Amino acid sequence: MNAIDQDHRAPVLSVRGLVKRFGSVTALEGIDLDINENEVLGIVGDNGAGKSTFLALLTGYHHPDSGEFRYRGHPVRITSPARTRRALGIEMVYQDLAMAPDLSVWENLFLGEEIKRFGILSSRRAMRARAGEVLAQMNTKIRPEWQLGQLSGGERQLVAIARGLLFDRDIILLDEPTAAISVAKADDVLNTIGDLHKRGKTVVLISHRLEDVLAVCTRIAVFVTGRVAQVLDNRDLTIADLIHAMFGGAADRQRAQWERRQQPGTR
Ligand SMILES: Nc1ncnc2c1ncn2[C@@H]1O[C@H](COP(=O)(O)OP(=O)(O)OP(=O)(O)O)[C@@H](O)[C@H]1O
Ligand SMILES: [Mg+2]
Repeated sequence: MNAIDQDHRAPVLSVRGLVKRFGSVTALEGIDLDINENEVLGIVGDNGAGKSTFLALLTGYHHPDSGEFRYRGHPVRITSPARTRRALGIEMVYQDLAMAPDLSVWENLFLGEEIKRFGILSSRRAMRARAGEVLAQMNTKIRPEWQLGQLSGGERQLVAIARGLLFDRDIILLDEPTAAISVAKADDVLNTIGDLHKRGKTVVLISHRLEDVLAVCTRIAVFVTGRVAQVLDNRDLTIADLIHAMFGGAADRQRAQWERRQQPGTR
């Protein structure tokens, strides 16, 4: 468990005893985990280990069968993604990006937020200008007026992350942001995660690309069949250490199957 936090950062979000079942499948079997202020927490684990389900519970997209959440030490109920965004400052970038391909980048950035957040400023021109500022801050070439559907997967990931910056969310949750994109675009996403960290944001990153996790994360939680098997500080860790934590020394066949699934074109 992660009782010893070597950076002594306070938890911004803590979960205890989180259980989630889908019918007869138990996706999470009692998760205890702290997400600390301004860390980049990696989550790794085999397919079906419960990683996406965990983030879906943090956003309120799914609800746990049992368990507790604390936000900055106070018990909270996590009810819906919209409320989580506004009340707790949590922005989620989904594994299957939920965006409107026919709309422009800036319209996607403000989708569902226009009037409430910007009040009198909510003119199209103001929103577009603000979107341009945030994209420029991220050092991307993406223009606010481009149509979202014409962007590559990696560029869409950057747009999704830009939403977190635009609304100044404290916690950004990313589910496989680099899985389906080229190495160059993946580097853009990883650099952006580094920037978020420097700006004091808290990031949770699910990824099968263990080299990405090692490159940007400060701590790494290893999920095994719906539980947190280990939480490792990312100091001198190697890919072999992570694979060992995911599968153990003995599970050679399971591990070989997982490694084959990580080859390009097989996922
Ligand atoms: N909406 C759902 N309905 C039924 N079962 C689900 C649902 N979502 C997830 N599950 C099941 O819960 C378990 C955990 O799934 P989850 O998607 O959280 O895994 P994961 O660690 O994100 O896997 P991957 O690495 O493949 O994305 C799996 O057995 C999955 O089939
Ligand atoms: Mg998943």
